[in-house]
Amino acid sequence: MCGIVGYVGKHNPKDVLLAGLKALEYRGYDSAGIALKNEDETQIIKSVGKIKNLEEKIDCSSLIESNIGIAHTRWATHGAPTENNAHPHHVGKVTLVHNGIIENASEIKERLLKEGVKFNSDTDTEVACGLINYYYDGDEVKAIENAIDELTGSYAFGIMFEGNNNLYAVRKGSPLIVGISDNENYIASDITAIINYTNKYMLLEEGEIAVISDSEVKLFKDGKEINKEVLTADIKAEDKDKQGYEHYMLKEIMEEPILLENTLKTFLDDMSLVPDLGDYEEIHVVACGSAMYAGMIGKALLEEKAGIRVICEVASEYRYKKIIYDRKTLVILVSQSGETADTIAAMRKAKENGIDTLAIVNVKTSTIARETDKQIFIEAGPEIAVATTKAYILQVAIFGLLAYKASHSENIISEIKKLPRYVKEILDDRDRYLNLAKEIYKNNDVFFIGRKVDYAICMEGSLKLKEVSYLHSEAYQAGELKHGTISLIEDGTPVFGIITDDDIRDKTISNIEEVKSRGAKVIIVSNKLVSGYDRQIIVPKISEFFQAILIVPCLQLIAYEVAKLRGCDIDKPKNLAKSVTVE
Ligand code: M6R
Repeated sequence: MCGIVGYVGKHNPKDVLLAGLKALEYRGYDSAGIALKNEDETQIIKSVGKIKNLEEKIDCSSLIESNIGIAHTRWATHGAPTENNAHPHHVGKVTLVHNGIIENASEIKERLLKEGVKFNSDTDTEVACGLINYYYDGDEVKAIENAIDELTGSYAFGIMFEGNNNLYAVRKGSPLIVGISDNENYIASDITAIINYTNKYMLLEEGEIAVISDSEVKLFKDGKEINKEVLTADIKAEDKDKQGYEHYMLKEIMEEPILLENTLKTFLDDMSLVPDLGDYEEIHVVACGSAMYAGMIGKALLEEKAGIRVICEVASEYRYKKIIYDRKTLVILVSQSGETADTIAAMRKAKENGIDTLAIVNVKTSTIARETDKQIFIEAGPEIAVATTKAYILQVAIFGLLAYKASHSENIISEIKKLPRYVKEILDDRDRYLNLAKEIYKNNDVFFIGRKVDYAICMEGSLKLKEVSYLHSEAYQAGELKHGTISLIEDGTPVFGIITDDDIRDKTISNIEEVKSRGAKVIIVSNKLVSGYDRQIIVPKISEFFQAILIVPCLQLIAYEVAKLRGCDIDKPKNLAKSVTVE
């Protein structure tokens, strides 16, 4: 995680760097810092916490004259989130920002300490900076090459050297782009950081070293200069605005109807665009977090409706587990960012084993989009809130389409077309979620119970609530609760009972009775009235392929309202980052 931005041009970089950091803050917000440089000196300003703390500090500082700088927002891995550990780091003639983890930092540090190098932080980044400086004898590219030959792990580095006015960049495993403009060039973790200044950029591939001045960008690979295509980003600066909403999370939830309409239309107009999974004997759905829970819905639908065998596995496990590839298998990687380190590793494992890969992904230029055999783009646009909402809904919609096609069911296209309108009606009823939030936000624990596909919905409902509101919540298979966890149910403990699956409705209701008789406050979320409980949220009934899409928005809005009542930083929950580019 962590966000990097850099500038070289005609102006003082402060404003560009701060604007870039604010756009990248979703990647981590434990600390932030900038470094400005001129021919005589390098000035570094750092601060713990969010970018606004850094901004205040910068406003109170007198800045050097400069037209080159790098900046960083940190999600701490090695070393506590202190000012000392904040980036940029500076050793000798080298100043550097880093996104990633250097795995062999301790041994390199030991060696450099013996050589007399002094370190001021506990970070792996300062070691990388020290190593580049160690190799620096006036040839910047050579010094970077020598250092990266030794480094293991992942990195995107933005680097400045004393004595010249270029920016240097290199990456492995972590994203980095080079932004191009007239007499001004940039580096950034992603295009959103610089979209107010340019939409032209180059994607830096692993091992390529960029040498960037105000007037040109040169790229080197294995010691030779290479050419690279300049791309144009199709996002607009206004995509990053809250457009009047108090939080990005709310704005992004409210975008769900129109996005569903647009994304579904493409496929409903031409179902041949939906890949046919019928050729495969086994599907592996691999992802992290909410993307994984979207995959769990996919698994339930593909197995129940299309009779396809599906293994759904968290990417951080899949990448290290023994996987038996003894059937004709497709691995589906689900990822909003397309840069999640564990999901990338799982994708590469599948490819190394000669297995077909399909991405369900949002960011078209991401590593997962570029390296998979086939891609389905969910077209969610930029998702800024750390907690995913609209991207998750579109991922579930794609799984609905995949399962619908694979099942050869009767034509339900006219029914599917009603989805966006139903979601809009559900979202318009905001008071209902606020009132419910008021009833539960002071509790210590919340439970979500359901069976089969409804359990998958519970997983997302529970994650959304806990990650934005810090209210402890757990999702449980309804029948499993009585095997221990039911002891946590007290008088008034909120329990959400999710019931959409008619086949199992009565069984889930029995389990809900079990918690009710122990004092739980039961909130039913269903597509059919189930009377006799404290609260009911009833959504329209629609084809099972898409029913989850009508339930989860209710849970998203409840999570949002609870977080607001609890005074949480909704778009940037503590300890999290949007793009998890470390394992
Ligand atoms: O970018 P990805 O979809 O690969 O991200 C996966 C997870 O990190 C992400 O869904 C995470 O769980 C979010 N915090 C959920 O809101």
